[in-house]
Amino acid sequence: MVPPPAHRHRSEPRTGVGARPALILVGRAWFGGRLQPIEIAIGEDGRILSIGKDRSGAPRHDVGEAVILPAATDLHVHFRDPGGPTDAESFVSGTAAAALGGVGLVGEMPNTRPPVVDRDALDEKAQRVRGRAAIDVLLYASPTVARERAALARTAGGFKLYLSPTTGIADPPPLAAVPGLLAELADLGLPVAVHAEDPRDFLTTGRPADPASWNAARPVRAELDAVAALATAPEWLRLHVAHVTSPVAAERLLREGRSFEATPHHLLLSERSGADAKFKVNPPLRTEAERSALWEAFRRGRVPIVASDHAPHPISEKALPFHQAPSGVPGVETMLPLLLERVRAGVLALPVLLAAACDRPARWVGQPIGRIAPGHRAHLLVVDFRTRSRIEGRRLHSACGWTPFEGWDGIFPREHYRDGERIVEDGEFVGAPSGRVVRPEYAPTPR
Ligand code: NCD
Ligand code: ZN
Repeated sequence: MVPPPAHRHRSEPRTGVGARPALILVGRAWFGGRLQPIEIAIGEDGRILSIGKDRSGAPRHDVGEAVILPAATDLHVHFRDPGGPTDAESFVSGTAAAALGGVGLVGEMPNTRPPVVDRDALDEKAQRVRGRAAIDVLLYASPTVARERAALARTAGGFKLYLSPTTGIADPPPLAAVPGLLAELADLGLPVAVHAEDPRDFLTTGRPADPASWNAARPVRAELDAVAALATAPEWLRLHVAHVTSPVAAERLLREGRSFEATPHHLLLSERSGADAKFKVNPPLRTEAERSALWEAFRRGRVPIVASDHAPHPISEKALPFHQAPSGVPGVETMLPLLLERVRAGVLALPVLLAAACDRPARWVGQPIGRIAPGHRAHLLVVDFRTRSRIEGRRLHSACGWTPFEGWDGIFPREHYRDGERIVEDGEFVGAPSGRVVRPEYAPTPR
């Protein structure tokens, strides 16, 4: 067996001993298994230096009754940059929306125009991040061009493999080719996210006219079959299944020790939540019974990661007849606020949310963020659980200007720090566009 290349990476971050703090954040945080008073010393380099009483005399910022949380990592967004349309999204609008929703790192998908299948497309995309992004960005590449894979593995942040057609993906590889492809990708060491629907289970007759018929046309069976096909993947492949909708698929992936995500829309919305194409998405919204079982699994900590699959189609395209409208819903700005509101309501435990939104996704892509711990970058949020707001599409910051969560309550972060610098203050973006392109820095330790 070839040794897993990921295991040759450096190990997890260590603290910079002896450095002087630039800022002390004072408040309460979930730490050591409970919400307790905390002082977080942040160094000049933007890393957390230490936790505990600080006597250095460095400037202090006391957040009062608010709570300090790690910023979230959203492993699944589509920012349509390059390739537009311009009223959909860009790295400028998409990362500002993410920052205001408490997301400090996004994984951006390769189904842009042109698709990220080679070094040139990846380099061009990285150019569009620099000087324009409010937060950090990890860029996925598509492994569909064999001769480009090794070069992409040295520069991309991860691979994204589509097993079925979806927005921007017309010809996915046949399922029979997938085991060989996964074996090859395992040796390249990068994380691999998979869109797992088996298109052989899709109904291609008829014209789906609402979310329930879309669910019938791309049924849960397609997800179960695709997840079964992934069981052949080498054990050391850093595999992650995107937008799992079925609690049965989730239990199988847990048994197999694989990473996977659920989206806020599959956790909170069903095929009956709305009738129009604003509720059309791949995989489809499921029945209420499936939705509530998926939520129950999430609530019990049996869904390792939450990610938005932010797919901001222009409202003009969503107004097309249902069968012609594109699939996908925006969500990067509302993911954490919707779930923080569930915590406030007492139906979701804060540590379960922090593990799924902050710690595990960052670890999957080898980033030293997502935990309040020495050596980690100070990507932090200040959240006041007493300030709820009503979600309205026209007040969100995605260029698409709509949301499937219109009228829902959310708790938006009051402040957001990137590397110890405040980028959001009183819910307004105040930072510089100095987000970075990041790549895995270490291989995650087993859970
Ligand atoms: C996504 C998009 O619009 O890019 N659409 C979607 O329905 N989720 C693509 C995808 O993730 O399938
Ligand atoms: Zn997607």
